[in-house]
Amino acid sequence: MVNNPTIQSSLRLRAVVAGTGSSVPAKVMTNEDFMKIVDTSDEWIVTRTGIRERHIAGPQDTTATLAAQAARNALERAGMKPEEIELIIVATVTPEMVFPSTACFVQAMLGASNAWAFDLNAACSGFVYSLSIAQQFLSSGRYRTALVIGAETLSRITNYKDRSSCILFGDGAGAVVLKAVSSGPEGIMYSTSFSDGSSWEALKCQAYGSRHPVSIPLENPDMVYMDINGREVYHTAVRRIVELVNECLEKCDLQVEDIAMFIPHQMNARIIESVGKRLRFADEKIFINIDKYGNTSAASIPIALDECCRTGKVKSGDIVLLVAFGGGLTWGANVIQM
Ligand code: UT7
Repeated sequence: MVNNPTIQSSLRLRAVVAGTGSSVPAKVMTNEDFMKIVDTSDEWIVTRTGIRERHIAGPQDTTATLAAQAARNALERAGMKPEEIELIIVATVTPEMVFPSTACFVQAMLGASNAWAFDLNAACSGFVYSLSIAQQFLSSGRYRTALVIGAETLSRITNYKDRSSCILFGDGAGAVVLKAVSSGPEGIMYSTSFSDGSSWEALKCQAYGSRHPVSIPLENPDMVYMDINGREVYHTAVRRIVELVNECLEKCDLQVEDIAMFIPHQMNARIIESVGKRLRFADEKIFINIDKYGNTSAASIPIALDECCRTGKVKSGDIVLLVAFGGGLTWGANVIQM
């Protein structure tokens, strides 16, 4: 299946997906709910973004509680105990607190006492970046198991007075258990990652950090919230995602038809559809669930992958293509045989 010799030789050990899981808060916020707080309409939101509702964290939910529940579900599906996990990576831009890391909280909540744990911040690309790092550790033989989680409580940094951004975001977590094996499916076949820090202003949440510490009054109080240049992101995302898919297909010697499911970051249904059309993916092979969850940043791809696995849209042996684009700017992809 993988004809590229450089890829084959790097796969002495394979990083395979042993289980997936997800968790979203119970509270749902619909487009009608937004019509009560900003000047918008269900028609505008659905036409421009594809979003109908999103899950919003309640007072008891935090990024770590959502991440830990997604992880428990993934471990159960993998038939594994938390003590068997050797590495935990949590991708997030809404950490539990400045420090310790969200991953350390998740480790404690799970009782994954044999793991080392750290967070990774690559905004919406955090999960694909994290899979690529875990792949290196597993395929080199350094670790045998890893838990890779994307988790966000974006509602905590959303400006509910800004109609152009607040309607986009939701909360949730998705997780994948990876195992190093020497036979069976290929697992993670290829990963690629990029960033462009010179375009950092397109997507940001500026306070509080070392540039804008809590001790100095903010020049604009809205700097505590996410701020996006939607149009700029939209056009760059389409271009970069097309490039990523073409790179993945070429490096893995695959055709579009070989991909069982294209699972992009759920940023905007129009972006996904326009990319899918350019790349000639059949409609049924483009996965979209943004209508139910909105944009959950690092959590969106693992939530989508879990839904694909649970509903039988993706089966054992299928090849899936995960593609992300987000703040940084960052972008990246993974090709995985499940
Ligand atoms: O995952 C990474 C983070 N995600 C993103 O950065 C999102 C990427 N960008 C997008 O998804 C789209 O650019 C948006 C959905 C954010 C905006 O869609 P758009 O088609 O690019 O709209 P626009 O920004 O060009 O705005 C068109 C009009 C404007 O009014 P005027 O200037 O034409 O009179 C906006 O003020 O729509 C107005 N508008 C709204 N109207 C009703 C903006 N937000 C709303 C709203 N309801 N919620």
